[in-house]
Amino acid sequence: MTSFRERALALFPAGSNGEYGIPPELVPVIERGQGCRVWDTDGREFLDMTMAWGAALVGHAHPKVVEAATRQAALGANFAAVNRRSVELAERIAALSPCAERIRFVASGTEATLLCLRVAQAATGKPKVLKFEGAYHGQHPVGITSMLNGRPATLPQSDPSGAGAAWVARDVLVAPYNDLDTTSRILRDHAHELAAVIVEPLHRCLTPAPGFLQGLRDLTRSLGIVLVFDEVVTGFRLALGGAQEYYGVSPDLVAYGKGLGGGFPIGAYAGRADLMEVVNEHRLPGPNYAWSASTTGGNPVSCAAALATLDLLSEPGLYPRLHAAGRRLRQRVGEALEQTGEVAQVLGDGPLAQAAFSAQPVTDQTSWLASDRARGKALMHGLLRGGVFLNPMGTKLYLSLAHDDSVIDEFGARLADALRATRPSVP
Ligand SMILES: Cc1ncc(COP(=O)(O)O)c(C=O)c1O
Repeated sequence: MTSFRERALALFPAGSNGEYGIPPELVPVIERGQGCRVWDTDGREFLDMTMAWGAALVGHAHPKVVEAATRQAALGANFAAVNRRSVELAERIAALSPCAERIRFVASGTEATLLCLRVAQAATGKPKVLKFEGAYHGQHPVGITSMLNGRPATLPQSDPSGAGAAWVARDVLVAPYNDLDTTSRILRDHAHELAAVIVEPLHRCLTPAPGFLQGLRDLTRSLGIVLVFDEVVTGFRLALGGAQEYYGVSPDLVAYGKGLGGGFPIGAYAGRADLMEVVNEHRLPGPNYAWSASTTGGNPVSCAAALATLDLLSEPGLYPRLHAAGRRLRQRVGEALEQTGEVAQVLGDGPLAQAAFSAQPVTDQTSWLASDRARGKALMHGLLRGGVFLNPMGTKLYLSLAHDDSVIDEFGARLADALRATRPSVP
């Protein structure tokens, strides 16, 4: 009988749906999840440290989310129309998100960031956008620009990070994260053609330098450029009001996804009413109009799951608990690295962590690319072999409400084991 792994390898390129860089013999085919554990089709149990790349923030199969989604599914899964649950969810988000005067639902973070950029371009009539080196905003061409490769020549020149999108070299400018002086120079030189600056407020797992986000806010406002926060990761994770609340800076537009849906597919983009009005179809045919319509965006099952998720996240003391868990995780990671004599930096904020194998501080793409990423990848594979489920691309570790202190300590011990098992042999 052919195994599920073999069946997956026969049909999915690399045997994956985008879980980047898993050796074929390690491809797990997941059967079910509960809390912070998943089980594969061979019955093997894993401690989950990726939690659906952060989408399962409340834990897998949380009973309240399951109940809300099941109840709604029996009433109809999709009407491709505004519905009771999408109105309720839009109101909840508008009350929590500092910048959300108007909102639209889509089905993924990719669509949410794409639409933010389209809205900015239509509203300003300007063609170009600026992103930060190394940022990921989803699988559209701008989302991956200058993410995979080193710096092409000089900034703000961008690298398409893939085939078939040569136009990004013309329309996408790139700046170094956490470097306000260089960014400011690029913005001033290109303000006449720049519609938007898009930033992950917590850039991958790199924290913003003091004053960086506020500096971006002030610069974009004074230069007539739309500031977009990609809060697909940080939204509802760093605080109920996301990075906007946590870092105290509000953009013009915001993109949400991942954790909001309690594991169900969801995306939303929101922001200033005057900007969001460019998707109002009553403007057709007009010069400042942008098309926005999603068949599954705002479906009532995802919205019901999101409402249950927001109820869970609104429980008193929840965010202090999530942040304490994140601090404990970063501490355990640091201890495991120290015990095993590894030289590395522990990155992250809130319930997120990442290790970078470098003796130098890692604060931007240049210092990240200079770290020993091959060591990081070998460690990820070692963890996977040792029963820890994660995205072996070496990205963030994501905690959920289901990761208590004992689970985090268990991870620390498994990490130390994996560090020893994958230690490069000294010639
Ligand atoms: C910061 C950020 N933005 C956007 C996305 C894209 O979201 P999705 O995979 O739901 O399209 C991701 C996904 O990892 C992300 O990390």
